[in-house]
Amino acid sequence: MYPEIRLRRLRQSAGIRRMLDAPLPGPEKFIWPAFVIDGAAKREPIDAMPGQSRLSVDQLLIDLEPVVESGVNGVLLFGLVEDSEKDYAGTAAYNDKGAVQRAIREVKSRFPDLVVTADVCVCAYTTHGHCGPLTESGDVDNDAANEVLAKIAVSYAAAGADIVAPSAMMDGQVEAIRTALDANAFNQTLLMSYSTKFASAMYGPFREAEKSQPGKGDRKGYQASYGDLRTALRESELDELEGADMLMVKPSLFYLDVLAKMREATDLPIAAYNVSGEYSMLHATAERGWGDLKGMVQESSAALVRAGADILISYWANQYDKYFRN
Ligand code: PBG
Ligand code: ZN
Repeated sequence: MYPEIRLRRLRQSAGIRRMLDAPLPGPEKFIWPAFVIDGAAKREPIDAMPGQSRLSVDQLLIDLEPVVESGVNGVLLFGLVEDSEKDYAGTAAYNDKGAVQRAIREVKSRFPDLVVTADVCVCAYTTHGHCGPLTESGDVDNDAANEVLAKIAVSYAAAGADIVAPSAMMDGQVEAIRTALDANAFNQTLLMSYSTKFASAMYGPFREAEKSQPGKGDRKGYQASYGDLRTALRESELDELEGADMLMVKPSLFYLDVLAKMREATDLPIAAYNVSGEYSMLHATAERGWGDLKGMVQESSAALVRAGADILISYWANQYDKYFRN
């Protein structure tokens, strides 16, 4: 006890602190989520997400150059289509000539070592903005959604995606996708499940980026409830049993307890999705002069790793050198 024990001895100089501190997550831990659109030479900055844009595939290749150079390991692709291409079930999502499919092909050919993940969902492709076709009563038709999700995953795998990442939170989606991949000889395609994904108020900027706000209602009937932790954890347990290769917690900064619990419960790799609202929140704070952006980015990203994340899906990833190199 004090005065013999003085913990300040252990942090008295930068050299001692460097020796004892866990390093900041390296670029190899990061996956950059990027939004791809049809056409060429298109670059649409997203107001709600400074530093992020919707990009046509040629522009994505340009932006990936420095990202790959910085050592970032992966990209997570989200697609968008014109309203005229949307339909009730989101079938444009498995169009082999779609922006995501083209992006996968071109990114893999230009950067063969970059790990390419594609988000498997239909909310940006349905007229109603929900993550699957609707039943008469307006509820998402779970099993019909699974059939669409499986087709999307197969089309991404065929384009050359390393990882497919279903985010619709349908029951049985992991099994449906794994079965379809294997039946089509894609048994090496990894499946990263958005396994514990909450119905969150932190997806606002993303929905602006993706134009995927549901027309009516919300996603509480399929995304997990933050008030029911046990069921939220069962979502991940079941996805593991269904054959997911990797699990995910999303959002992540508001759910560090969930991450830590999952870390104890599973030996699968866990990704933390540091979502759009968490990203923009720090930007907004810094913009008002209420906090140092770099400090907030480093501290919050370190928290995700400390809580148990192996992989960080993060919009900071395309600015790694700026925020993580001292
Ligand atoms: C949709 C999807 C969402 C995100 C990723 N996939 C939003 C939603 O459920 O409406 C959110 C990502 C973010 O906020 O950064 N399936
Ligand atoms: Zn969705």
